[in-house]
Amino acid sequence: MQTTTKFIGASALLLLVTTFTLPAAQAQGKAPTDQVCNDKANPPQDAVTKGGCVVINRTKGNCHACHAIAGTSSHGNIAPPLVSMKQRFPDKAKLRAQIWDATVANPRSVMSPFGRHKILSEQEIDQVVEFMLTL
Ligand code: HEC
Repeated sequence: MQTTTKFIGASALLLLVTTFTLPAAQAQGKAPTDQVCNDKANPPQDAVTKGGCVVINRTKGNCHACHAIAGTSSHGNIAPPLVSMKQRFPDKAKLRAQIWDATVANPRSVMSPFGRHKILSEQEIDQVVEFMLTL
């Protein structure tokens, strides 16, 4: 009986600790909020959220200017909506290549070649890919 109580107590404590020490809402399936991205006291730690922040940053990805992306308010509609990415891009390298330089697949693409033009760093592109695959 006593062991059970202790166990329940310990589990509750563990739950409390993990709830309050995890970084602010991980971006899974939708873009993180500006609040999460700009939280100086508790900056995003994981690649997915960092990638989401690159995507919605107007001076970086600004991907939602052209693409509909879950969690963003300004839905661009001049490009395909970024949905079901894992199913549509089972090959991660192909997804990365599209973001690195869209003009390889379509020489007349209006999408900026984020890697070739060094708009994003290699690390930022990796993070964007990680985020994309949750959409
Ligand atoms: C200026 C508009 C524009 C911006 C900004 C833009 N894209 Fe695109 N993107 C396009 C267009 C248009 C296409 C359709 C294919 C083409 O024309 O290259 C596309 C295609 C894609 C595709 C392939 C989609 C599919 O369904 O095959 C992915 C993935 C993608 N973009 C990701 C991104 C990411 C990530 C960003 C931000 C880092 C971004 N795009 C920013 C216009 C844009």
